[in-house]
Amino acid sequence: MEIRCKTAEKDQLKAKPEDDSKLGFGDIFTDHMFLMNYEEGKGWFDPRIEPYQDLCIDPAAMGLHYGQEIFEGLKAYRGRDGGIYLFRARENFKRLNRSAARVCMPAVDVEVAMKGMKQLVLLEQDWIPRSEGTSLYIRPTMLATEPHLGVRPADEYLFFIIVSPVGAYYKEGLNPVKIYVEDRYVRAAVGGTGETKTAGNYAASLLAAEEAKKKGFTQVLWLDAAERKYVEEVGTMNMFFRIGEEVITAPLTGSILPGITRDSVITLLRNWGIKVSERSLAIDEVIGAAEEGSLEEAFGTGTAAVISPVGQITYKDRDYIVAGGEMGDLSQRLYKEIVAIQYGEKDDPHGWRERIN
Ligand code: COI
Repeated sequence: MEIRCKTAEKDQLKAKPEDDSKLGFGDIFTDHMFLMNYEEGKGWFDPRIEPYQDLCIDPAAMGLHYGQEIFEGLKAYRGRDGGIYLFRARENFKRLNRSAARVCMPAVDVEVAMKGMKQLVLLEQDWIPRSEGTSLYIRPTMLATEPHLGVRPADEYLFFIIVSPVGAYYKEGLNPVKIYVEDRYVRAAVGGTGETKTAGNYAASLLAAEEAKKKGFTQVLWLDAAERKYVEEVGTMNMFFRIGEEVITAPLTGSILPGITRDSVITLLRNWGIKVSERSLAIDEVIGAAEEGSLEEAFGTGTAAVISPVGQITYKDRDYIVAGGEMGDLSQRLYKEIVAIQYGEKDDPHGWRERIN
């Protein structure tokens, strides 16, 4: 499929951030975007790159009413060698298509999406920041656009990709975050949409996150919806707990996101000969380990967050300090390894990285 490209006029181009070491997350958008449309019976058509602009959507667009919206998050990295690298990007589009199937949206052709994304990233390459820990965050998104108010899957969709130069997701950067174990609200139940990247999962998480933020926490740790007993994820990250010699993460039973960074961490740990279990982990086991001193580390993994150490867990109004409130050794080793692969500084035996320039 040919991708047509209409570039912005010189006077439309935006000023780039002056100091990219001060970048936050998700506030700055570049000069162009990728789009394509879908109609039932016609399939995807008109893949194109255009100047970044407001979308023109009918107020009755079904995605605005019934939540048929899915997205992905991945990054382009600027290596010190000048290379522009992607990390396991195809996995993101495969996951997008699994999300699409769950909420009755059409699959995209992974190769067309990859091509459009690469073309966009290359066009915007001067926006890719160079300071340590920065990257160009890529947000592929699909939305139901058919104007209709009956509840059923739409037959018109828009797919677009926008890109944003970013720094650390959390204001803490690599400093440990504090998490609040949520035992009242739930994010997702098995059988629901928790394993997809659909907007509703994030809407469901906001109230608990806001309440936790008021109490000084960075994020909430979700427990399972049925019993509020087992740890799940942190909404923007999958979670890992190192108890004694075992590293434990929740299994993919349908209510948590199958994170690509999660999968990479499991692979690296196994290669390093470290025991990793994908198993149900009761919050009581985590707290018991914290009390007896065997909770060595806890950390979150995600595209936006990379590896984010947890320095404090609060459950039923009691605080438990993890790894002395510092970043643990294993979290540090994982962070260094993943970042070195992503930025083209280390061998990539798993073939995760792709250089695009
Ligand atoms: C990501 O890690 O890319 C995410 O999608 C998490 C969040 C920013 C919604």
